[in-house]
Amino acid sequence: MKGERLDKVLARLGLGSRKEVARLVRQGKVRVLGQVVKDPGFRVPEGAALEVEGRPLEVRRHLHVLLHKPPGFVTSRTEGPSVYALLQGFPTRDLSPVGRLDKDAEGLLLFTTDGLLLHRLTHPRHKVAKRYLVHLERPVGPKDQEAFREGILLDGKKTLPAELTPLEDPTWAEVVLKEGRFHQIKRMFRARGNRVLRLKRLALGPLELGDLPPGKARPLTEAEEKALYAAVGLGGEDPEDEV
Ligand code: URA
Repeated sequence: MKGERLDKVLARLGLGSRKEVARLVRQGKVRVLGQVVKDPGFRVPEGAALEVEGRPLEVRRHLHVLLHKPPGFVTSRTEGPSVYALLQGFPTRDLSPVGRLDKDAEGLLLFTTDGLLLHRLTHPRHKVAKRYLVHLERPVGPKDQEAFREGILLDGKKTLPAELTPLEDPTWAEVVLKEGRFHQIKRMFRARGNRVLRLKRLALGPLELGDLPPGKARPLTEAEEKALYAAVGLGGEDPEDEV
């Protein structure tokens, strides 16, 4: 049969998990081409107008999902326990992670179906800031701040200027990076004779982790999506047009 299942289409558009959207459908809250459809398995003709609770659905072609990664999960499809196990209800096959977090790291991990957005967010040319909270074995001081600002040699190449801000207890700090090299923060602190005990990503460009509980995932809001595209020079236009 032609067309995609209604529950799958709605989940892909970020209306909730397959289970949640199936409930909406059974409650008679979804119309396809103006007609109420109560079967979550209904095959939606391509390009058909959809309404949910009386409001036309803007058919977004891409989905972006923000996960609060807990420690102990691997940013990989093949190694376990995988972060994909935390994305149940989302179309995991189509979602790729924007960069990685180490197994023991936690916090904001973004997934997207948009390859161009992914490329721009991970390319240092676009200088998208990533903000981390770090707990360290030893306190950090002004010399460390200077070194982070100057750049630290890793594998023969200097890191881009990074901001290091000690918190009230100087064994805790915030770090802002504009690139994402392998184990970058851990290696930068190791080069300063220190050791990272805990690492949590709080923000990626305009996106904030906020109070999303660990292990939970949610689609981006429209405002977040807009801000994200604008941050990598894709604002306003159709991202597919700017390859
Ligand atoms: N830097 C690290 O060392 N690890 C991460 O997961 C992210 C940044």
